[in-house]
Amino acid sequence: MKITIAALPGDGIGPDVIREAIKVVDAVGGKFGHKVEANWGKIGGIAIDESGTALPDATVEVIDNSDAILFGAVGGPKWDKVDAKVRPEAGILALRKNLGLYANLRPVKVYPQLINSSPIKPSYLKGVDMIILRELTGGLYFSKPKKRWTTSRGRRGVDTMYYTEQEVRRILKVGFELARGRKKLLTSADKFNVLESSRMWREIAIEMSADYPDVKLEHILADNLAMQLIRNPAHFDVVVSENMFGDILSDEASVLAGSMGMLPSASLAGLPNPNGRGKRPMSLYEPIHGSAPDIAGQGIANPIAAILSGAMMLRYSFGLEKEADAIEKSVEGVLAEGYRTKDIASDGGQLVTTSKMGDIIAGRV
Ligand code: IPM
Ligand code: MG
Repeated sequence: MKITIAALPGDGIGPDVIREAIKVVDAVGGKFGHKVEANWGKIGGIAIDESGTALPDATVEVIDNSDAILFGAVGGPKWDKVDAKVRPEAGILALRKNLGLYANLRPVKVYPQLINSSPIKPSYLKGVDMIILRELTGGLYFSKPKKRWTTSRGRRGVDTMYYTEQEVRRILKVGFELARGRKKLLTSADKFNVLESSRMWREIAIEMSADYPDVKLEHILADNLAMQLIRNPAHFDVVVSENMFGDILSDEASVLAGSMGMLPSASLAGLPNPNGRGKRPMSLYEPIHGSAPDIAGQGIANPIAAILSGAMMLRYSFGLEKEADAIEKSVEGVLAEGYRTKDIASDGGQLVTTSKMGDIIAGRV
């Protein structure tokens, strides 16, 4: 199979980790007889510096000529002025919206070898294996009105949490289907006690659950869930929420895994039909961590989140289950052998650089 990837490293440690992810996907391709081709494109701050826009036409063209997107991270202090006209984040937000990538899967898995890297007590972490499913193209991030203005009595600003029934149904459908293939528990996070959009969300979830009698549906208020994620993380299977809650909860959940540098994500226009033929819709894969400008280019960033995003890409965009497994097994093996980047080295082990970690994982697939 030919695997053509739009590689968009972005800013900060984005290039450090995407280089390794491509290295590993390339190694898997070599082993399983696929031809891997990476088309490199600019996005975020670096693109603003070069062309005044976070998502240049040249990058859109790179995407048009590829089958899937592997994205690094965007942003940094250089572009952080509050009154900036263009922000690096505009690049990734535009991609999500323009490509209709409404379903963001953020698996949170605790590797037994890293159980001491988390600030949470080990006894709480056993068996943690969940997916945070975040709605990615609606709610506060995108709904209108969204603006700032000045009145005679001072400044005003508004963002809007607006959802249509269709938007809520399609993300919940992904949630029910994911749960069906796993531990069959769907936890829906909302603020039903305060927000109208949440009341509609919960109503729709209850209606839809009739079609999924094998899946247990539970509702938890988002603030309470923030607490339960730490108190009883092993309870959860699939957690579904609107855009902003999911943004916050997934950063929180990453602490369970020991480091943000461990967690991959997939942004999809719905779950692919496993028996479907032909080209799958364009999807985007990215580590959940940010650009970490303070450690960029030093060879200390953890490439595992990006590498595991590459595995998700092979699974969801190309249907290459064995190949995805090979990457995930290799990561587990390398952790078991004791190789560590700085962020996960609190327990000792053999400290390696970003590119060495990539080499070892690539060598093991
Ligand atoms: C994430 C990030 C993004 C978001 C930023 C970079 C726009 O925090 O992917 O979680 O808020 O969605
Ligand atoms: Mg975030």
